[in-house]
Amino acid sequence: MVVLGIETSCDESAAAVVAVTAAGPRILSNLIHSQLAEHTPYGGVVPEIAARAHLDHLHPLISRALAEAGVLLGAVDGVAAAAGPGLIGGLIVGSTMAKGLAWAADKPFLAVNHLEAHALAVRLTEEVDFPYLLLLVSGGHCQLLVCSGVGRYTRLGTTLDDAAGEAFDKAAKLIGLGYPGGPAIETAAEDGDPHRFVLPRPMKGRPGCDFSFSGLKTAVRHITSARGPLDPRGQADLAASVELAICEAVTDRTANAVALFRRKYPEGNSLVVGGGVAANKRLRGRLTSLADEAGLRFVAPPPALCTDNGAIIAWAGIERLRLGLVDGLDAPLKPRWPLDSDAPPRPGAGVKG
Ligand code: KG4
Ligand code: ZN
Repeated sequence: MVVLGIETSCDESAAAVVAVTAAGPRILSNLIHSQLAEHTPYGGVVPEIAARAHLDHLHPLISRALAEAGVLLGAVDGVAAAAGPGLIGGLIVGSTMAKGLAWAADKPFLAVNHLEAHALAVRLTEEVDFPYLLLLVSGGHCQLLVCSGVGRYTRLGTTLDDAAGEAFDKAAKLIGLGYPGGPAIETAAEDGDPHRFVLPRPMKGRPGCDFSFSGLKTAVRHITSARGPLDPRGQADLAASVELAICEAVTDRTANAVALFRRKYPEGNSLVVGGGVAANKRLRGRLTSLADEAGLRFVAPPPALCTDNGAIIAWAGIERLRLGLVDGLDAPLKPRWPLDSDAPPRPGAGVKG
């Protein structure tokens, strides 16, 4: 089974070809065009520019992804595209292109939930059975979910304000580091003292599995406005302090979810992470210890499959195609598309920031 995957939900244009062979899943190509240069002058992602950039870059990316994989369009078994949540302009470009290709090649179209792609990414490289506990931490999301199967998610907690990635990005901006903030903070933090600045660990010690990061952002703003521009040592120390605070806050909430998961899903044995923030080494280390203590296996996709890419869209397409879950060419786009539609709406749930 071979699927072409297309990702355009935010500021990465991406195309990939993933196959399932007798030896397991294989990524045959995985190309990403980051629109960083296009958005940098404006200090953030501009939806209209993103949509136009996807239009410029997607077609050549798809051609190259197929060529690199050595696969003709007529030989794929399906064409998958992120159909939400995300910026509507980008979703229209990617999904319309995917629908057009699917129609031309007479293959099924697969409308993929971008969050489901993060949720299932781990199964592309590791053998992980359902149910598993998932920490989904990205630029627009911070959620704890039980994944009971493809399309079957139960939300245990979500953010009440910012997402974890947003907290990294906003703190990096205040510290004077670049965008995206997560990798910039991780690099700067390597030489920093994580205990120099005292920062809150929002929600720590409270029951439940919800998150909050706005207080942390405010605390960082107080420090940077009181001190003025930081020297490189100050930047490194504040970056390290922010990274530690976010990791401790996330791990504390995840510990509550682990306890709940062990109680309610005794057949489950894995703690899984997904989304861009899951690339963070300090967070991965903390979660490994947490899982060890609870007798769970900690499983994470390789860092390159944590951040947005086409391979995880193709893989989610394969997971759905195997179950016969294909979509018509009239499949709607969903700028807001929570994984657990029964969970009460929250500002940060199902929306991609
Ligand atoms: O999953 P993703 O690529 O896009 C969304 O679906 O939102 O996640 C992007 C987010 C950004 O906020 C970025 O700063 C964060 O993931 N991120 C990281 C790291 N790499 C990316 N955060 C912390 N440490 C990293 N190494
Ligand atoms: Zn994402």
